[in-house]
Amino acid sequence: MPSEWSLYSEKVMEHFRNPRNVGGMENPDGVGHVGNPTCGDIMELYLKIKDNIITDAKFKTFGCGAAIATSSMVTEMVKGKRIEEALGISNKAVAEALDGLPPIKMHCSVLAEEAVKSAIDDYIAKSKGKDSKVESNP
Ligand code: FES
Repeated sequence: MPSEWSLYSEKVMEHFRNPRNVGGMENPDGVGHVGNPTCGDIMELYLKIKDNIITDAKFKTFGCGAAIATSSMVTEMVKGKRIEEALGISNKAVAEALDGLPPIKMHCSVLAEEAVKSAIDDYIAKSKGKDSKVESNP
């Protein structure tokens, strides 16, 4: 195994090799599109939300291994959470759930945090006028 792989935790490698919740979604309630302008990597996140609870999450990431692993982890983390709780998930929390990322790859986890916020913002924007009581900045 190449020595640079030892930079990554087993959990990162496992989510990179077997990412959870990959793919698109029919009729998502919220869609997040984010990108890292420095490396050009892109993440799209799709959420199903019912009664302010995230019931399903899928992603498509065109990016590095750390971006794929953090995308996979964040989809697992948001499921079952209220949107207010999901908005509180930081990139650091995603990285910690993966048993850490090398400092040089921490920026990749920012995509995951931003994608959740972007998808929830989209949901809130679509919900406006539909008797939504959701606050974007609780
Ligand atoms: Fe671009 Fe990791 S190098 S997100």
